[in-house]
Amino acid sequence: VRGQVPPAEVRQILDAASAGGIDTIDTAAAYGESEQVLGMVGVARWQVVTKLPPLPEQVLDVSGWALEIVQRSLARLRVPRLHGLLLHRSRDLLGPRGRKLYATLQRLQNAQMVRGIGVSIYDPDELDSVFPVYSLQLVQAPFNVLDRRIVQSGWLTRLLAAGIEVHTRSAFLQGLLLLGAHERPAKFSRWAGVWRQWDDFTLGSRERRLSAALGFVLSTPGISRVIVGIDCLRQLQEITAAAENADREAPDLRCDDLQLLNPARWTELGSGPTDPA
Ligand SMILES: NC(=O)c1ccc[n+]([C@@H]2O[C@H](COP(=O)([O-])OP(=O)(O)OC[C@H]3O[C@@H](n4cnc5c(N)ncnc54)[C@H](OP(=O)(O)O)[C@@H]3O)[C@@H](O)[C@H]2O)c1
Repeated sequence: VRGQVPPAEVRQILDAASAGGIDTIDTAAAYGESEQVLGMVGVARWQVVTKLPPLPEQVLDVSGWALEIVQRSLARLRVPRLHGLLLHRSRDLLGPRGRKLYATLQRLQNAQMVRGIGVSIYDPDELDSVFPVYSLQLVQAPFNVLDRRIVQSGWLTRLLAAGIEVHTRSAFLQGLLLLGAHERPAKFSRWAGVWRQWDDFTLGSRERRLSAALGFVLSTPGISRVIVGIDCLRQLQEITAAAENADREAPDLRCDDLQLLNPARWTELGSGPTDPA
């Protein structure tokens, strides 16, 4: 990962994205200075989704905490309203502080500072405790050729039936699905069977990996927005070109191992002798 993208390149990225039919930006208060840079470049015409950071243990005035963070996000982004406000950690909605937090999000919605409120999840199981209790308008979940939990669990169908907008991220599993066999860090070699199938399906071609990974999520009905992570303009250009004639044939591939599916758990894998520096 390259770190922060310079503002001039962010401007080029937004222009190219807009020309390519992209209309939504996903960011978070926790993503370094990204809100500030987006605000500087100008995102008033975009649908902006941002996230509240995890609620710190010691916070007693939940309402004051949330209001201040959202006001700061709006000020940094220089927009009067967010398309979506997601909780970066859905379990913040559980318990008595959760009720206060939700009531505060509703106040922001009533004041038209936020259109939809929702959660960013790491596992569809998180919805079991939140969905029956709270009315949400937006859910962001990981989804890719390997990680089909949102579909297999039946949650995608349930969310759509309830009229909830679903955004998916992780189409490239933090870029891992785009790496060739020789670029893949050694710590992932325990899933050799998965990689063999993926490499066979994509014929060892970088272009086909991009096209197949993107085609799979784009061709799944019901998903409102597919979020892609990019480090530079060139990657966006590759994505918009690939999206036009993306591979709509889904590989028969899946994995249930959370150690691979959840990038937060990759640190547990240690590093291998052939990891790139
Ligand atoms: N042609 C190419 O070579 C090409 C093309 C496209 C992409 N890529 C690679 O693929 C990667 C993206 O893959 P993906 O879309 O599948 O990603 P992903 O799995 O959705 O992962 C994105 C991760 O980055 C964090 N994140 C998102 N926005 C961020 C920001 N503005 N600042 C800091 N952290 C942020 C998220 O953290 P939270 O979970 O905490 O929210 C999430 O863990 C890119 O970084 C790029 O390296 C390569």
